[in-house]
Amino acid sequence: MSINSKTFVGFDPRRVPSPCFVVDEVAVERNLKILNRVQQESGAKVLLALKAFSMFNLAPLVNRYLTGTCASGLHEARLGYEEFGGQLTGKEKREVHVFSAAYTQQDLSELLRFSDHVVFNSVQQWLRFQSQALQMKSERSSLAFGLRINPMHSEGAAAIYDPCAPGSRLGITAEEFARHTGSSDALNGISGLHFHTLCEQGFEPLDRTLAAVEDQFADYLPAMSWVNFGGGHHITHPEYDIDGLIQRIRRFQDKYNVQVYLEPGEAIAIHTGVLVSEVLDLVQNQRSLAILDTSATCHMPDTIEMPYRADVFLAPSEGGELAGEHAEKNNSYRLGGQTCLAGDVMGDYSFDQPLQIGQRLMFDDMSHYTMVKTSTFNGIGLPAIAVWNSITDEVNIVKEFGYEEFKNRLS
Ligand SMILES: Cc1ncc(COP(=O)(O)O)c(C=O)c1O
Repeated sequence: MSINSKTFVGFDPRRVPSPCFVVDEVAVERNLKILNRVQQESGAKVLLALKAFSMFNLAPLVNRYLTGTCASGLHEARLGYEEFGGQLTGKEKREVHVFSAAYTQQDLSELLRFSDHVVFNSVQQWLRFQSQALQMKSERSSLAFGLRINPMHSEGAAAIYDPCAPGSRLGITAEEFARHTGSSDALNGISGLHFHTLCEQGFEPLDRTLAAVEDQFADYLPAMSWVNFGGGHHITHPEYDIDGLIQRIRRFQDKYNVQVYLEPGEAIAIHTGVLVSEVLDLVQNQRSLAILDTSATCHMPDTIEMPYRADVFLAPSEGGELAGEHAEKNNSYRLGGQTCLAGDVMGDYSFDQPLQIGQRLMFDDMSHYTMVKTSTFNGIGLPAIAVWNSITDEVNIVKEFGYEEFKNRLS
């Protein structure tokens, strides 16, 4: 067993403040190159899902390979526009796509000014804004509108991550689509369909999902110019069937004469970063407990929400050991944070040697969905953000946070 963010085996966590997210730009580029191969060989366009990884310090690197960004609402879309090349022109211009479960009038008005694709979650929302949208399109011809469909085809994701679970509010079922698009001009202005149904999945679940989409939405696909296959594709996983994906996209594009989009998030940032933390105290209550300067609830909420147990490893100077399960090694600890939440616990781990106060630990695979979800509950500080280059070994602390970030969210 070794860590997933392999390049970090040689990283000294004392080179950054603690806590700190450290992202290896070389590892990000490796992922981007794989995604770019999919673009080049399939003709699909690949977008970065900002909800998973919004690190705009690396936007120039992302822009070198991908077609643009996709957002979950106004603020992410603005970030895509301002920082990820959305406002550039010519070959530098990167696309800004947005999907939201529902838009406010105010947000939509702003989004229509700079977005390229705006995807609606219901026919009702589309019809509410259709005339405003078409008016804006007459001024900006690059603007395109789509509807998110829901093939109700679950591929085994946990219910909390399954947009096709019964009663899901995400996407329009085939039945609802037919019911609300009966009038002759309901689809006037809609040029694309979007679905997002997968979560950390290989090619085969996508293949089966496409069969469900083609079966249920056969009446509408021929009239579309683009279809967005959403995210959840584990394309940068070593076992992903990239050739299968490329062939399937090509067949789909040829059959319907559409532009296919993919919008992965995790695949761009997986295995690229760690969260460095420090042991602040070691106490005892029926077991050994270590209190760290990182918090599960503030800094790694997915470990509680999902839930999952992140891998932990030591600095190379301490052997780079990967922590074991509880009692697997001689020295077991429950690792927890500084907050008042009794359940602010990252998990149970064991080490060859006893932990020491002041020792640095690294939590593996913390770039995606972790950095974007941090909070300042209890006034806990946000981790700093650093970029490391595992080839040149250069470390750049790009941002540090303090009291102001806590205060500015409150009044
Ligand atoms: C609409 C949409 N697109 C893209 C993504 C990115 O998914 P992933 O990071 O799993 O690739 C998500 C994730 O929830 C999503 O909801």
